Order: sequence, then structure tokens, then C-alpha cells
Amino acid sequence: MFSFEVLTLFPRMVAPPLAESILGKAQARGLVDVKVTDIRDFAGGKHRVTDDAPYGGGAGMVMKPEPLVAAIEAARPGRAVLLGLQGTVFTQRAAQRYAALEQKLILVCGRYEGVDERVLDFVDEELSLGDFVLAGGEFAALAVVDAVARLVPGVLGNEESAGTESFAEEGLLEAPHYTRPPEFRGRRVPEALLSGDHGAIARWRRQQALRRTRERRPDLFGRLRLGPKDLELLAELDAPPV
Ligand SMILES: C[S@@+](CC[C@H](N)C(=O)[O-])C[C@H]1O[C@@H](n2cnc3c(N)ncnc32)[C@H](O)[C@@H]1O
Repeated sequence: MFSFEVLTLFPRMVAPPLAESILGKAQARGLVDVKVTDIRDFAGGKHRVTDDAPYGGGAGMVMKPEPLVAAIEAARPGRAVLLGLQGTVFTQRAAQRYAALEQKLILVCGRYEGVDERVLDFVDEELSLGDFVLAGGEFAALAVVDAVARLVPGVLGNEESAGTESFAEEGLLEAPHYTRPPEFRGRRVPEALLSGDHGAIARWRRQQALRRTRERRPDLFGRLRLGPKDLELLAELDAPPV
């Protein structure tokens, strides 16, 4: 069983989506366990205060270190990851790395202006979802749980679907998908997919994956290690029509 624990000031923002769809089923089947912990439970005093004004002045509030660190320590053993804008950016590679962990993944959600800097000494790493500012770490934590849980063996119905999708191979986007009908408002499904010829389908998919990555993510394309077969497929794309 793979375990997650999300530490948050807003448990109700996190818990409901976990009960749905793939995540809900994975928990019901005992493959994944997700605990949501209220950081406020670790705050002392009558008012259980979790934030305070920043030293040096300025706008907003800062999450106090004591309740956060107490919550992290109570959640251990496990790998503690703080969701934060200054962390390394989350990728499929990181999701694969986490899914292979043999310990609990503890996700710590910041709020307000962020957390007291000293909390960084009590986590194993800081992780960002990307270069945009969320109001809190909750949706970032949910994104990480979702991406990692579906890589846990047995969670996806069809084991294959995690292997062929975008980024499964470092830096390659997936080929486009089609379903019935074969023609929709004048747009036909590519012939190769209708052919029933598995070799031709695999070839077409590889070629489309290369094409899409080159067109849409030149940054990823530049880092791909292309084999002779790939170069052939690209040359075919670039050849003038006969
Ligand atoms: C409003 S943000 C704090 C922004 C901070 N004052 C700054 O300018 O860098 C509050 C919390 O949301 C979370 N957060 C916001 N954007 C995020 C992102 N892209 N990835 C991960 N966590 C994020 C972090 O936990 C952060 O502490």
C-alpha cells in the first residue's frame, strides 16, 4: 500500500476529490492510503494560531513554524515535501521517483505569504507545480497525489496506459487519440488507425508523437535521443508530397 499524508490548514479543500474516481477506487481497494491532517491540530493556545505577521513588515501573514514542524514530525517517518514556488518543478520523472518510494509521501501545504523559512530545515525538499502562484499548496498537493497514485502498480485498470502516455518516455508527447465515429463533421480518423495493422498503427503513433513534440514542445524535442527509426519517420514527415 502506498501512503500519502497531506498537511493543510484547509482539510475540506483536499479530502473530497480524493474520494472520487481512480483515487477513490485505489483507496477502496487498499492500494493507496491518503490521510489529510489539519495543521491547526498542532497549534497550541486557546486560539490555535497558525500564522503571524512577518518580521520586517510587509503585506500578508506567514505560517508559524511550531505547528507546521510539529505536524511534519507527527507524520514521519516519510519523505516530507513542502509545496512552494521556490522548489524544483514537478515533472513526470519526479512522479515516477515518488511512486517508487518505499515510505510515506508527506505533502506540506503553505498558505498566505508562505511558511517561515526555518521550516525548510525540517522537510526533505521543496516542490513547485510551475511558475504560477496558487493561493495555497492544496491544489498542488492534490495534483501530486493524483499523478503519483496512478503510477502505483494496480491503480490503473489497464497497466499499459501509464507506459505509453506523454512523458512516459522522457520528453515525448503522446500521439493523438480518436474514438468512434470514424467521421465527425467532415473530419476523418487517420487511415492508419482504422487499418487494424498493429505495425502500421505503432509506426503512425510514433511518428505523430515525434511530430507533436517537435511542434508543440521544441524544448523537450531538443533533448530527445532520437534513434535511426525516428530520424526516418521525421524525414518522411518533412518530405515534400509526391
Ligand atoms: C500565495 S502562495 C505564496 C507566494 C509567495 N509569497 C511568493 O511570492 O513566492 C501561498 C502558498 O501556496 C503554495 N503555492 C503557490 N503556488 C504554488 C506552486 N506553483 N507550486 C506549489 N505550491 C504553490 C505554497 O505552499 C505557498 O506557500
